Amino acid sequence: ARTVTRDAEGVATVGGLDVRGLAEEFGTPAYILDEADFRARCRAWREAFGADADVFYAGKAFLSRAVVRWLHEEGLNLDVCSGGELAVALSAGMPADRIALHGNNKTTAEIRQAVEAGVGRIVVDSFQEIVRVADAAQKAGRRQRVQIRVTVGVEAHTHEFIATAHEDQKFGFSLGGGDAAEAVRRVLRLDSLELVGIHSHIGSQIFDTSGFEVAAHRVIGLLRQIRDEHGVELPEIDLGGGLGIAYTPDDDPREPQEIAKSLGEIVSRECRGAELAVPRLSVEPGRAIVGPTAFTLYEVGTIKPLEGLRTYVSVDGGMSDNIRTALYDAEYSVALVSRSSDAEPMLTRVVGKHCESGDIVVRDAFLPADLAPGDLLAVPATGAYCRSMASNYNHALRPPVVAVRDGEARVIVRRETEEDLLRLDVG
Ligand code: LLP
Repeated sequence: ARTVTRDAEGVATVGGLDVRGLAEEFGTPAYILDEADFRARCRAWREAFGADADVFYAGKAFLSRAVVRWLHEEGLNLDVCSGGELAVALSAGMPADRIALHGNNKTTAEIRQAVEAGVGRIVVDSFQEIVRVADAAQKAGRRQRVQIRVTVGVEAHTHEFIATAHEDQKFGFSLGGGDAAEAVRRVLRLDSLELVGIHSHIGSQIFDTSGFEVAAHRVIGLLRQIRDEHGVELPEIDLGGGLGIAYTPDDDPREPQEIAKSLGEIVSRECRGAELAVPRLSVEPGRAIVGPTAFTLYEVGTIKPLEGLRTYVSVDGGMSDNIRTALYDAEYSVALVSRSSDAEPMLTRVVGKHCESGDIVVRDAFLPADLAPGDLLAVPATGAYCRSMASNYNHALRPPVVAVRDGEARVIVRRETEEDLLRLDVG
């Protein structure tokens, strides 16, 4: 997080608190989240997009009730993709009309829950789902606002598993193949649905804005086709999330102002060309807001030097609190934060405590050669898709999320306990 500094002894401090004290009070591993940084990023996105656009935070990156309250206070909307996320959002007081529901296989129960709560939009993803949402809306006696998710055929330059706009995958309606136009026809025929816009999400951890520009061009092409065929101009477009963050010093992310400016320009240019009124734009950043705001604090356990290779440094967590290295070959950095050291750097691999060799937190890292059990390590930029993708593999207890602000720390998601695990085990 931005506010991490070092004190005179080389101990890292965040939000005015020393990491040794945090480890003592809350234990390790723990996700330490800088609330001021989170709020500042929310404001940066809101200000960059201005009053004519909406920013929907993608809850899948990390969601808790405190986060929902911060979003609400900072004027952001929320994108949820399951009944569970919706329940957290509603229970923390997010107004339903500021919530959007996503997903390629929303259950009938999730659709009903969302419709009855009065969510502001449901992003429909398949022909069958159009019927399911229409039925739920009719039963609830509501007219449900929907967007249609399309795949624009952009190859986002990111890991295959997190690219979502090419043709051969499970999300959305193909623009090129004509399914998108057919989805529009079907939605427009249903009285219980109000078609408000078109949605596109091209992928995640993207650094280059050109993919968004192509997506905007194609989505506006569809709006024009809809106007020509049906005589209606849809009032909204959503260009999804996906803006990358810096995991290592080599990454060079775009700022929200840059992306807002480039999207704003392309949308107005394309609309002018198509003689369309400029629709209300929305975006759905997850990682770019929460990712940089947290780091994971680990304690070093076993250190195993392998002659001629590298030193394996084991920490007290691993793939159960950060699956991204194993799953996507994600790169992270790591630093010794509990003291300073003048020792020579040694080549290490930081690994977890799980029963497999792929349980790697940081593949290649230089750490001081005098590293010892009990030292604290911090892995930055773990705010997104780490706690939210955490598991109980090997019956690991998922770590807490500790929010720090102005010299105070408070647990916003508590550490799991063995009782939590045993409570579910009812055999
Ligand atoms: N909107 C939609 C419809 C999405 O599917 C996603 C992410 C987002 C917004 C937010 O994307 P972001 O701005 O956070 O990149 N677990 C993976 C990423 C999968 C993202 C899935 N959808 C990871 O750890 O990198």
